Amino acid sequence: MLSRKAQSFTESVIREMTRLAKVHRAINLAQGMPDFPAPPEIKDVACEAIMNDINQYAITWGAKRFRDAIAAKTRAHLGIEVDPEREITVTCGATEAMIASLLAVIDPGDEVVIFEPFYENYGPDTILSGATPRYVQLRPPDWSFDPADLAAAFNERTKAVIINTPNNPTGKIFSREELRVIADLCTRWNALAITDEIYEHILYDGYRHCAMATLDGMRERTITINGLSKTYSVTGWRVGYAIAPPELTEGIRKVHDFLTVGAAAPLQEAGARALALPGSYYSDLARAYQERRDLLLGGLRAAGFECSIPRGAYYIMAETSGLTAGNDIEFTHFLVKDVGIAVVPGSSFFHEPSAGSRYIRFCFCKQEKTLRSAVERLQKLSSIRAAGRG
Ligand SMILES: Cc1ncc(COP(=O)(O)O)c(C=O)c1O
Repeated sequence: MLSRKAQSFTESVIREMTRLAKVHRAINLAQGMPDFPAPPEIKDVACEAIMNDINQYAITWGAKRFRDAIAAKTRAHLGIEVDPEREITVTCGATEAMIASLLAVIDPGDEVVIFEPFYENYGPDTILSGATPRYVQLRPPDWSFDPADLAAAFNERTKAVIINTPNNPTGKIFSREELRVIADLCTRWNALAITDEIYEHILYDGYRHCAMATLDGMRERTITINGLSKTYSVTGWRVGYAIAPPELTEGIRKVHDFLTVGAAAPLQEAGARALALPGSYYSDLARAYQERRDLLLGGLRAAGFECSIPRGAYYIMAETSGLTAGNDIEFTHFLVKDVGIAVVPGSSFFHEPSAGSRYIRFCFCKQEKTLRSAVERLQKLSSIRAAGRG
């Protein structure tokens, strides 16, 4: 009885790994959710909002106070003027912002260009919206793309390209020059850029975030997606947003209204407070994440993994060849059951599973003590390696 669409993608492997982590009492380095508290000031505002009876639907496209805060932050942080009345849609997470945007712009026969490895939602998102995905490889160690490959993926059916910078799972930051190459193709083929910038504040080693909408000519053809989940450590609040020119926003708002009506009203009030946090909040966040990255990266390398250094987001793609002759799925099950660490098999990030069979993804949005226990457990791998097992 299931539709062809629903049958054509699998359950989320990332969420499945979280369930397996519970079964095996493993440390969950699979799903990107922090195990430390959110900032107290924003939790206070959320509680106050409920006590003050902000408990009914907000305006479907987002509470005014929150949209104003999004516009103010976008101006201050990216230097972009956004009209909160006509260019912002508040959604249930960046997840809904992406699917609502695709449903708003895709017609049957349209193609969407996706860089891979990709955040696993983008595959089902394109299927659900009826688009045909065209994949372009990001190549290690720096996960750059070949401009010729990208040019070959665009044609008159291309409706949009999805970009995610800073990138999950690779930690790549798209440079302004790379974005310019993508932008020129968008202009040439009259395509949109849908850019998921949810990790915009999680950057390392002096790398800087460049937003697609700041490139000449791109403001009017870019949908910028963002949310509270990662920057404010509130993945369970489900508050995100899409910024787009008025005519695109009209379509996104309509789709969003009939998908979910709106995001949680009291949490939008807390979101307004979150977006007004001072600059030091963001530099502290990035510094703390860089320490976590260095801790896990050191542990992974000592255990025998080959890893490229993530420059942003909070994941490490680790190459497993030095540790196992098996594939990513076998190794992931071994790690969760026998070593006590849940990770995500690399094949979840590629449309051809074999392309990811030598990778697994670790996330490090965890307390130092959690990461230290994980690194300790990883030491078991050296003895397993010596014994030629795994
Ligand atoms: C690239 C990317 N986009 C979106 C999301 C989900 O965001 P939200 O919690 O706002 O739906 C994630 C979560 O892991 C992600 O990595």
